[in-house]
Amino acid sequence: MLNFELYNPVNLVFGKGQIAKLSKLIPADAKVLLAYGGGSIFNNGVHTQVTDALKGYDITEFGGIEPNPRYETVMKAVEIVREKEINFILAVGGGSVIDAVKFMSAAVKFDGDPIDILQKRIRIEGNTLPFGTVLTLPATGSEMNSGSVITINKTQEKLSFGGPAVFPQFSICDPTVVASLPKRQVQNGVIDAFTHVMEQYLTYPHDAMLQDRIAEGILQTLIEIGPDVAENPADYKLASNFMWCCTMALNGLIQKGVPTDWATHMIGHELTALYEIDHARTLAIIGPNLYRVMFDTKKEKLAQYGQRVWNITETDTDKAAHEAIEKTVAFFKAMGMPSRISEYTADYASTADFIVKRFEERGWKAMGERGNITPDKVREIVEMSY
Ligand code: NZQ
Ligand code: ZN
Repeated sequence: MLNFELYNPVNLVFGKGQIAKLSKLIPADAKVLLAYGGGSIFNNGVHTQVTDALKGYDITEFGGIEPNPRYETVMKAVEIVREKEINFILAVGGGSVIDAVKFMSAAVKFDGDPIDILQKRIRIEGNTLPFGTVLTLPATGSEMNSGSVITINKTQEKLSFGGPAVFPQFSICDPTVVASLPKRQVQNGVIDAFTHVMEQYLTYPHDAMLQDRIAEGILQTLIEIGPDVAENPADYKLASNFMWCCTMALNGLIQKGVPTDWATHMIGHELTALYEIDHARTLAIIGPNLYRVMFDTKKEKLAQYGQRVWNITETDTDKAAHEAIEKTVAFFKAMGMPSRISEYTADYASTADFIVKRFEERGWKAMGERGNITPDKVREIVEMSY
């Protein structure tokens, strides 16, 4: 097992009715920025629950954070925070709102131009504003990790940043919020979480036995509940298991002591930046093709995944690995995921050129767990996805 440090200070408050605890989690004299997205929290009663729980607080609202949050939008909030001397931010929303708030938290006191946080990928180690979250969409794990992804409109770049100072202080995860999600968002959540596990699991055989078993358990649970929770999002048993799987998939735990890949996400982010394809849907396109192109270096783990997660009885490594990819593709399809870029845009012919050029400019020439996902491999993966 590789050496590791596990640091996760998030107070995760899980279950029905937990939004009412907000006043125990935010200091009574705090000046709060309440940040949210396009308005779903007004339709499902979450806004009322939050404001009821925070009666008497000094609250400024900032709405309109878009899916795939924009740097330009978030900077408007940063100005308000500075102007009003706000000292606590509450994110109420999905991954986009939480990521936007992480950026606000880092940018407010940043010494320099905040765009550098993204373009120079500065690790945020301190000097942040405290924030908490009320999660309304299980998917990204952002509620219990210290990463964030922001899109810069001007340059059409979708870039991630993070660091130990941008963990939420607390996250309230009430699975009843799942009930109001459109089916497409539930499907996205299942596939995003599934791929998060795959990025940290589907590498090469190693000695971290427990990490593998936890990863396999999350994958199996997502397979078991995914199609049902998309149909019955109000079912509490399904919704609560879905929510906990998503958090566990990317709260750092299964990543400790193991090699990780993340190239599916890196390529997927470009597809969102170019064509505004939902994050999870980019992963469903790229993931299986990445497993095909990188087959030789991933086949042992693919076979293990096939045998343990899909109960494939084939013992030949190559055959079991191929079968495992096909099972994955079938699952993604059952979860409503299109498998090709051309299903989203007719204008895809130069996609591979664009992405390869960008990765080369950024120096991303050796991605993946072995550093062997080179620009040529990226091209092959993207072209296979047309
Ligand atoms: O904006 P509102 O009106 O709230 O509507 C949202 C949005 O349109 C809606 N929604 C959220 N909760 C709802 C709801 N609708 C009804 N009922 C509810 N309870 O859902 C839509 C999508 O929301 P969004 O926050 O964009 O989705 P998601 O949570 O999937 O977040 C995606 C973003 O997270 C990034 C992605 O790249 C993308 O920008 N990621 C963040 C990660 C992280 N911080 O660790 C890791 C991920 O890999 C990912 O990259
Ligand atoms: Zn993701």
